[in-house]
Amino acid sequence: MQHIEQLISAATTEFAGVNDAAQLEQAKARYLGKSGSLTELLKGLGKMPAEERRSAGAAINRAKDQIEASLNTRREAIKRAALEAQLDASALDITLPGRGRGRGGLHPAIRTLERIQELFRSIGFEVADGPEIEEDWYNFTALNTPENHPARSMHDTFYLEDAPGVLLRTHTSPVQIRYMKAHVARYGHLEHMPEIRIIAPGRVYRVDSDATHSPMFHQVEGLWVGENVCFADLKGVAADFLRRFFESDDLKVRFRPSFFPFTEPSAEIDVAFMSGTMEGRWLEIAGCGMVHPNVLRNGGIDPERYTGFAFGMGPDRLTMLRYGIDDLRLFYDGDLRFLAQFN
Ligand code: DAH
Repeated sequence: MQHIEQLISAATTEFAGVNDAAQLEQAKARYLGKSGSLTELLKGLGKMPAEERRSAGAAINRAKDQIEASLNTRREAIKRAALEAQLDASALDITLPGRGRGRGGLHPAIRTLERIQELFRSIGFEVADGPEIEEDWYNFTALNTPENHPARSMHDTFYLEDAPGVLLRTHTSPVQIRYMKAHVARYGHLEHMPEIRIIAPGRVYRVDSDATHSPMFHQVEGLWVGENVCFADLKGVAADFLRRFFESDDLKVRFRPSFFPFTEPSAEIDVAFMSGTMEGRWLEIAGCGMVHPNVLRNGGIDPERYTGFAFGMGPDRLTMLRYGIDDLRLFYDGDLRFLAQFN
């Protein structure tokens, strides 16, 4: 039965050329379907003479088995190819290492505060602090800025609505008063009171917000009180600190006359870099001066015997300069793409 052999090989060839399950089912119908070629042969059996019918029937059934076998083989192959394509597409590579949690790190503003503390500790300063919710008296009055003093308008203050005389500290200077009072309470009875040498880093608050101002920012206060402390000491300590902070010996530092109610004389400290993008530009870094006699008195210290200098600097400014950051708001957005660069 030449015809049947041809049918088998035609079916096998056709199945092999199909790559898609639905097309394969269509191809199957052409041979094994209701009016498929093989089915037609079966139908023809009835018209055959009885002696031929037997062997023809057996041959057709064998052909049917073979066609079904090659159909199944092709079905499996198509299924396997589809599965492999799906696995490739999802690209799950179980041999890859795990993701891990990533390590956190310190915020650039905190890094700077720690660095400042380290540098001042190395020259014998201690670190002090005070409350962020402060009394008006410590924040202003005791710092020689009584009520209605025009200098109060230098600060846009957050007041607490339900608590008269209480505010968010606008600067770290009130720590000067708190520390002096505590110091005098401890050592005031001694013939020689130990010197006060502190820095007070911390958060301060003002009603202010733009690219270079945030309603919450940081300050570092400095205070050195003793016998014979003079402006030359202030210049030495400040200039030396700034050169060490920026790791640059040819940083220019200048003291520009200014006004603060709590110091007399007062100055602003400016720095200029001798190289880099900021070359030659003077930038204001801190306020400073000799502690006003009224301030020493409010701290319980005799201004006839003791003198001192104080300074207040903006460490956020220092951070921006050190790392070349141009928008202060980046500090407080909490964007990991920004923060991760400092670790
Ligand atoms: N407290 C001042 C401010 O926030 C900064 C300041 C200036 C602090 C002079 C000082 C100082 O201790 O002596 O604007």
